[in-house]
Amino acid sequence: MITFTSAHLKEGLFRIYERARRADWRPETDFDWDRPTPLSPDMQRIAWTVASQASYAEQLGLLASARLLGQTEDGPARLCLATAVSDEARHSETFARYALRRGGKVLPPDPSIQALRQGLESVDDFLGLFFVHTALEWLAADEFTLLARLFKGDVLGDMYLRVRSDELRHVGMGMLYLRWRLKDRSRTGWDPTPYEQLALRLSGFDDRFFAQLGALLRQPPDAVRHWFMSRHQARVRHLLGGKPTQAQRTPAGATCEGSPPGDDAAT
Ligand SMILES: [Fe+2]
Ligand SMILES: [Fe+2]
Repeated sequence: MITFTSAHLKEGLFRIYERARRADWRPETDFDWDRPTPLSPDMQRIAWTVASQASYAEQLGLLASARLLGQTEDGPARLCLATAVSDEARHSETFARYALRRGGKVLPPDPSIQALRQGLESVDDFLGLFFVHTALEWLAADEFTLLARLFKGDVLGDMYLRVRSDELRHVGMGMLYLRWRLKDRSRTGWDPTPYEQLALRLSGFDDRFFAQLGALLRQPPDAVRHWFMSRHQARVRHLLGGKPTQAQRTPAGATCEGSPPGDDAAT
């Protein structure tokens, strides 16, 4: 068990936990469910599909956070992860409610959901899982920025903004915790390279994804890819104190410049 001290209450992770406690919102009451949607029938079908899959992906975020929660011996990190588990439950419920309301049911999971589950379950190393989970969260948070823009005016757009703010808090927690634990990685020999590669693979951000998202956003797929990858690489560098991993030296397709116009994400 953890014996909390007054020093714990001053830690950055404890402050993130406090912020999480204050950031309370409810999917059943905090969205304007009766507002007419501006989306075309085609986009409404896409929104239903996207929300259905998101309800599963968020459950996997819940299970990964719960595994980390069960394995950490750090007091403030344990409190933070407890709020993250609750947040992910809320996210899954949020997207499920949307799919149920708009399509009458939650569509079955795509094969990518099973692949994501198996990929996460394949990681036994605690720090490795923390790294993969946090990287998937920052990649998702960036995706949510674009999806909020894509579904703007519809309830789903509002949902993505709410969920994204929780995810960015989770990313902040993961960054803080991992930076602390990885400070002396050169001494311990812990190598993040395979975990970064796994996170990129599990993200599903491949050529097809960038082509589809680019078409929906009316942006060149390479510009969308570059926007994601440059932000991803900056975060990994920050996490590792400025040193790139092997995966960063040879990221697939991450060489083009430019970003989608109207980019307003700052984290
Ligand atoms: Fe989430
Ligand atoms: Fe999360």
